[in-house]
Amino acid sequence: MKISVAEQAGFCFGVKRALKLINEYHRQGKMIQTFGPLIHNIPVLKELAAKGIRHVDRVGDVAGDKTLCIRTHGIPRDIERRLQRKNIPTLDATCPLVKKGQKIIEQLGRDNSPVLIVGDKDHPEIVAARSYAPRVRIINSLAAARALPRSREISVVAQTTLDTVFFKEVVAVLMDKADKLHVFNTICRATQERQEAVRKLAPKVDAVIVVGSKISSNTKKLYQIAREHNRNVMQIETCDDLRGARTLARLKKYRSIGLSAGASTSPQELDNVKKFLQKI
Ligand code: F3S
Repeated sequence: MKISVAEQAGFCFGVKRALKLINEYHRQGKMIQTFGPLIHNIPVLKELAAKGIRHVDRVGDVAGDKTLCIRTHGIPRDIERRLQRKNIPTLDATCPLVKKGQKIIEQLGRDNSPVLIVGDKDHPEIVAARSYAPRVRIINSLAAARALPRSREISVVAQTTLDTVFFKEVVAVLMDKADKLHVFNTICRATQERQEAVRKLAPKVDAVIVVGSKISSNTKKLYQIAREHNRNVMQIETCDDLRGARTLARLKKYRSIGLSAGASTSPQELDNVKKFLQKI
């Protein structure tokens, strides 16, 4: 069995940065907790929990004697203000590329422009981003873009982990919806590179395995892109997900497997999967 790893896969710059920040802080013996899961990767969250770094989901649950680390996806402005009012010290691990999107939305809000965000309204990044301007609308399908009323002006931004091809399709629909269309391509480079790499790899192999958490938006996108180019695609969190007898029998039929991994998947996890497959 030939195993090929996508040219770009696994931890992105924002995730590496967040883990470095929090681990350095912890090494100094300081107490820290995170607001929401720091990243969408269950094995990594378990490792942090083993060090005593746990997450809270509500301002009311924040322990007053610990610093609060802001997750890579950022937090809504009202929560930020409530934390400031309570004098809770924070360590900001929001990815700078997520921040860049927040700043664009904030500026558009200051100019009183309506903002259209293309992304998942329930994803923490978008829950935070929408709080940066008063007139925000969120869409996540071509049908929703087609249903928009015609306006004089539209400013559109994307979730950092959006599929680039899908964003271009939405923008094409919006061309007919406004006299002036302002497009801010806020899809991050790490996402674009990982998507491109899996698009290239998927048609060349018998099957694709995408390693990453079920709750990771960018991993889900990689899975969907791989599915567009290959019928045999699996998404797994760790190589334990491959140990079942039926899965093993299925894997043994393939002569080549392509590996991809979400931006919050560690290099160790990707390597574990590769080694596991090499043994088959
Ligand atoms: Fe940042 Fe992009 Fe990673 S927005 S957290 S570099 S997937």
